[in-house]
Formats: sequence, structure tokens, C-alpha cells
Amino acid sequence: MFLIQSALDMDASSRFLNQSLIDRHRDSLNKVDGPANKDDLFESIIYNLKKNKASVVSHYYVDPLIQEITEKTGGFVGDSLEMAKFGSRCESENLIVCGVKFMAETAKILSPEKGIFVPTLESTCSLDLGCPAAELKELKNKHPERELVVYANTSAEVKAMSDWVVTSSIAKEIIEDLHFEGKKILWAPDKYLGSYLQKETGADMILWDSACVVHEEFKSNGIKDLKALHPDAGVLVHPESPPEVIEMADAVGSTSHLIKASKELDFDKFIVATDKSIFYKMSQFSPNKEFFEAPTGGVGSTCKSCAHCPWMGLNSLYNLDKCVLELNNEIQLDESLIKLAKEPLDKMIQFNA
Ligand code: 13P
Ligand code: SF4
Repeated sequence: MFLIQSALDMDASSRFLNQSLIDRHRDSLNKVDGPANKDDLFESIIYNLKKNKASVVSHYYVDPLIQEITEKTGGFVGDSLEMAKFGSRCESENLIVCGVKFMAETAKILSPEKGIFVPTLESTCSLDLGCPAAELKELKNKHPERELVVYANTSAEVKAMSDWVVTSSIAKEIIEDLHFEGKKILWAPDKYLGSYLQKETGADMILWDSACVVHEEFKSNGIKDLKALHPDAGVLVHPESPPEVIEMADAVGSTSHLIKASKELDFDKFIVATDKSIFYKMSQFSPNKEFFEAPTGGVGSTCKSCAHCPWMGLNSLYNLDKCVLELNNEIQLDESLIKLAKEPLDKMIQFNA
């Protein structure tokens, strides 16, 4: 296994976290329990969704209030693969995607005839930012014999040049299959997910060097300390986390896999190494279980992400309400780009379908 150093300075993916983003993200954390006028906002969203023939699709990492209104209005809350599938089967003319940019772009690529809107155009992802299409193209040109497999957390341009797109819920099966067929892989962009997949499948993989600002911060020492306080707690880990954190897991997988594990595993407490907004769904299924955030730093360290994605946190009930009312912040992509990016996305959706 080789690790490719990008031309960007890759030693700390948290360089993408500027102070203004961190401050606004802190504000969003404080809003999780709900603004005073929640009922008014819910009423307005329900009314305008109907009026504008729109549905909402949300990720498990957005504000629980958004997850609540999404479900209340017949929309869908899920992991990134399930969101993509919902986008293509949903019959509404317009779709509001509450998550990050790559999720909305994926919805547009799979359903170009629909209007796709987002509460804020600022919501991106450190993996998407850390993998510019032009740099990946250079690397791809050096390895024409390899299948280019990219994580869904990438731009439409990156998807368009790829052989396969995968999310964490289907990555292992697809890489296993490619390995079985004797194919070598060029993987981008998440190095931790890549090395986990390499270890699990034995595939020959060259890895791009980028990481998620949230999951990269989880610390095995912190989890050990928390385990000492709660020795009976299970550990749930998203595979975007560092290998020493993954090693401590009782379950590793996508957000939907971790929610399933929180229901099914025989623990009353869990230490969870992923975005804490997922606790909303975990607690819905298991109201009597306790969930603890996996620590993001040791003594003296500063918590930057605080187990919450700063870009997911930019989605609020307020900007969702505005988006549903005005159908603003539309996602637009070139037809030719959509055509190219659709091919690997369709292959993913149809794999094991
Ligand atoms: P899932 O595909 O597991 O929902 O993960 C998306 C993501 O961005 C995790 O950080
Ligand atoms: Fe990207 Fe990490 Fe946020 Fe997921 S949690 S959207 S990988 S920055």
C-alpha cells in the first residue's frame, strides 16, 4: 500500500477549518435543542413544501430538528447512499437536500430533471476540498492500469473521471469484487477509509492523502480513558477514523450501519466515534441506552470539530425554511458533466440492487 502526498499541504486536514466557520459551527451546536419558534418554522416549512411541490432529504448529521421535520413531512433521513437512492425514487418536482454539497450534487446527477436546492451553498466537506479534480487527474494519468475508485464525498468533476463511486456502506463489497477480478485500485480521497478497506479486502490500493476533519480528531487514548469510566460500553466507529480508533471498535461502518449496531448489539451504553447528531436517531430506536461522544483530543488539546461536522452544522431550521419558501440556492451542473458522473454513480446504485 502506498500513500500519495497531494501537492496541497496534507499534514492537517483541519486547515480547512477557519475561525469564522468554527464560530458559526459552535452557534449551530447551541441550537440543537431548538429555537423558541420551532412550531412556527415547522408550520411554514410544511406549508411551503406542499406549495412548491418539494420534499426534503437529510443526512443523520444535520440538526435533529431538521431530521424531525424531514420525517414529519414524508421526506427521508439516511446515510449518503440511502439519500442518493431516495433522491432518484422520490416523485416530487423539487428536492431540498440537507447535508453537504456532494450530496446535493449527487441528487442532481441522478435526477437532472428535478430542481435540487440546499439551505446553504457553503456546506462542503474537507474530503471534497482535499481532492481537487486537476490533481487527481495527474495521478490517474500516472496509473492508467488502475481502476479509479472514489468516495462519494467528492466533487462532480472527480466523480466524472472515475470508474467507480462508493459510499462507506458499499465500499467494502465493491473493492472486494474488484480485487477478486484481479484489478488494482487507485483510491481517493479518504486515507483512513482507504487503509481500512485495504486491510479488510487485501486489495492492491494506492491511496490519496486526505481526511475528514471530524473523524480524524477522534483519539484512541481518549476512548481508552472513557472506557475506564464505562467499562461496559460498546464502541461504534465510522471508518473515516484513524486506524488505532477503528481497532477499538465493536462495530465499524457507515452511519446507517452504526445506527443498526446501536439497536442490535447487547450494550446499554455506547461510545460513538462519529458526528453526535446521529444520537438523535440512535436514541429514537433505543431510548433507554446511553450514548457518549468519543473524545476528540487529549489533555491540553483544543477541540475543533467537537464531534460535529462544521459544514453539516451550517444547515438550520431557519435557512431550510427560507430555502423551501424561495427555492433558492439551486444546484446547477453542466449536462456533459452530469452524463459522465452519472455512469459510476449508476453502477454503485445498481451494485447488489
Ligand atoms: P455515510 O455514508 O456513512 O452516511 O457517511 C457520510 C459522511 O460524510 C461521513 O462523514
Ligand atoms: Fe465531510 Fe467529515 Fe463532514 Fe462527513 S463529517 S461531510 S466526511 S467533513
